[in-house]
Amino acid sequence: MQSPDAIPSPALIVDLDRLDRNISSMQAACDAAGVELWPHIKTHKSVAVLKKQLAAGAKGATCAKLGEAEAMLPSGVRRIFIAYSLADVSKARRLRELAGMLDELILAVTSEAHLEVLEKVLEAAGISVPVLMAVDTGLLREGVRTPVAAGELADRIRSSRRMKLAGLYTHEGHAYQARTPQQVELLVRAAEDSLEAARDEIGEDIPIWPGCSVTATEFLKRFPVKAVRPGAYVFGDLNLAEGPGGMTFDDVALHVLATVVDRPEPDLALIDAGSKVFSSDKYSGNITARAVDREDVNVTRLSEEHGFVTGRGVSNLRVGDRHLFIPAHVCPVVNLADRVHVVRGGEVVDVWPVDARGRSD
Ligand SMILES: Cc1ncc(COP(=O)(O)O)c(C=O)c1O
Repeated sequence: MQSPDAIPSPALIVDLDRLDRNISSMQAACDAAGVELWPHIKTHKSVAVLKKQLAAGAKGATCAKLGEAEAMLPSGVRRIFIAYSLADVSKARRLRELAGMLDELILAVTSEAHLEVLEKVLEAAGISVPVLMAVDTGLLREGVRTPVAAGELADRIRSSRRMKLAGLYTHEGHAYQARTPQQVELLVRAAEDSLEAARDEIGEDIPIWPGCSVTATEFLKRFPVKAVRPGAYVFGDLNLAEGPGGMTFDDVALHVLATVVDRPEPDLALIDAGSKVFSSDKYSGNITARAVDREDVNVTRLSEEHGFVTGRGVSNLRVGDRHLFIPAHVCPVVNLADRVHVVRGGEVVDVWPVDARGRSD
């Protein structure tokens, strides 16, 4: 067995016990509520992690991209929801092949303009699929904005020979702005109202699929949904550990291992992890990452190969020290790495490839 001290930095370190705990507690919450779990694989992009989620009881997987779905097939997954506006006719053959390898492939319809193109993709693929209609509940990304638009889009779906309306979905990612559990509750209530208004207008009791780690347990507690699609819960990050989404620092299962490479000023340390490791996502204005073992040691600026570490605790950092950092947002960090090092009981027990790394196709 290798010691973590021998892992060359920068590297991504996964705490296996915490990962297993995050997977089983989300699954237990879903099971207790009688709700299906379709975790979003965008966070881990890993066959090994999806296998664990499926073994724990996940009903299927959610992906953003066709390439991610293809990369997850070795996990044995049989049901996939591609929660994205698929609008590229050149992907028709790949889509048909993917559908042929699954028991259930669900696609998203996100607007009337999108429906028209998706119809062409499905014609070219020669397949018919169940679709979930996107309803915007406050993120202001994809999805119908009003109940009337939901009713009109539902009519268009009903008259399509390639699509069958199977439900409504939303990604309530604006929940990351919430600072208290009360704000999360209010936001979930508002999302419920939008989803119910859309369903009333459509005039069918179709299933509802929300999806976000911050709101998952609140939805499970209060509102009858068919499935939830959290992603980031599996590893956690600063957004989740500092926010009201139900995770703590002790739940965070993925850290960036980095080495202090220089101390050019008394209040500044440079580490060997820059934007090519952390991505540009920030927490609370300017924090890219926070050291786990020291108060007030934060990565606050990046160049490609350097992280600029500032804060009260920086005076204690020495060149050559190795530290673990919690990234602001874990998903893009994983997508920048070829592999993660899996640690349990102070030993490296495995190295997993990031199988869908870069599969944004
Ligand atoms: C459509 C969709 N569903 C689910 C998720 C999962 O959200 P989270 O990673 O916050 O749990 C995302 C995240 O971006 C998403 O875009």
